[in-house]
Amino acid sequence: MTRIVAVNGSPRKGWNTDLLVEEAAKGAEAAGAEVARFDLYKLEKFTGCVSCFGCKRKAHEGECVIKDGLKPVLDAVKEADAVIMGAPNYFGDLCAEFKLFYERLVFPYLTYNAENPCCNTRKIPVLLIMTSNAPDTMYLNMLENYRNTLSRFIGPTKVLVSGETLQVKDYSKYDWTFFNPEERKQRRETVFPRELEKAFAEGKSLLGRSGKETLAFLVEGFGALQGGPALRTPDGLQVQCLPHLVRLLLEGFGVAQSGIDH
Ligand SMILES: Cc1cc2nc3c(=O)[nH]c(=O)nc-3n(C[C@H](O)[C@H](O)[C@H](O)COP(=O)(O)O)c2cc1C
Repeated sequence: MTRIVAVNGSPRKGWNTDLLVEEAAKGAEAAGAEVARFDLYKLEKFTGCVSCFGCKRKAHEGECVIKDGLKPVLDAVKEADAVIMGAPNYFGDLCAEFKLFYERLVFPYLTYNAENPCCNTRKIPVLLIMTSNAPDTMYLNMLENYRNTLSRFIGPTKVLVSGETLQVKDYSKYDWTFFNPEERKQRRETVFPRELEKAFAEGKSLLGRSGKETLAFLVEGFGALQGGPALRTPDGLQVQCLPHLVRLLLEGFGVAQSGIDH
């Protein structure tokens, strides 16, 4: 079973960030994944990185040693095949609660070994969602930094932005002349549903086939061919040899114990 972790970094349940994260999670479920959901603001108390360097000790390399409310989330990500994470923009950056999670997620994989600066040997796809008051393009540079760092230490990262979000249901209760409530509502009704669809599609395609499943699929396919007539591949390799070669590949990927033996 493919496992996905979905992390909502907004305090507002049922609002923009949460809805997009949830839609991506539903997309992943539609693709057959099992999703573990976490709301950062509902966890037991937790901190950001406290610079204890426990994760740099040889005995705990790559592992955050702090045992607080965030530990179950970090543990779940370690076991996951992909991760969805979302946060609202606060003061030009992803919100503070998200940054606590981000520090504790990434820093353990950063080593101070010049030859091997990242000790994560199990990279997984990441979907990062940000919502903001400003238009979609306002924070692309900032998001590119997150994308680069996440890609480097966690795995290939895609970013989805939803700007000019609806902030409150009834703007007439506030002195908010800075925004045009009608435009916000219209955007909510016309653009936001498309963003939800995009989130669903991104969640669904997050994994496609996991590496292990793909290899298992290949082995099965080649196994079936093995029982058939002797064929030669375009470069002259006899088909009967292929299962053996694929098994060697599986061993190389560390998944030889997949229960498939040809
Ligand atoms: C404390 C705070 C700071 C914010 N700062 C910014 C900001 O700098 N830029 C921006 O575009 N939106 C800013 N916003 C707006 C939120 O990013 C936006 O409304 C977001 O969609 C809220 O997400 P939510 O609906 O999931 O809570 C801020 C909101 C709050 C509460």
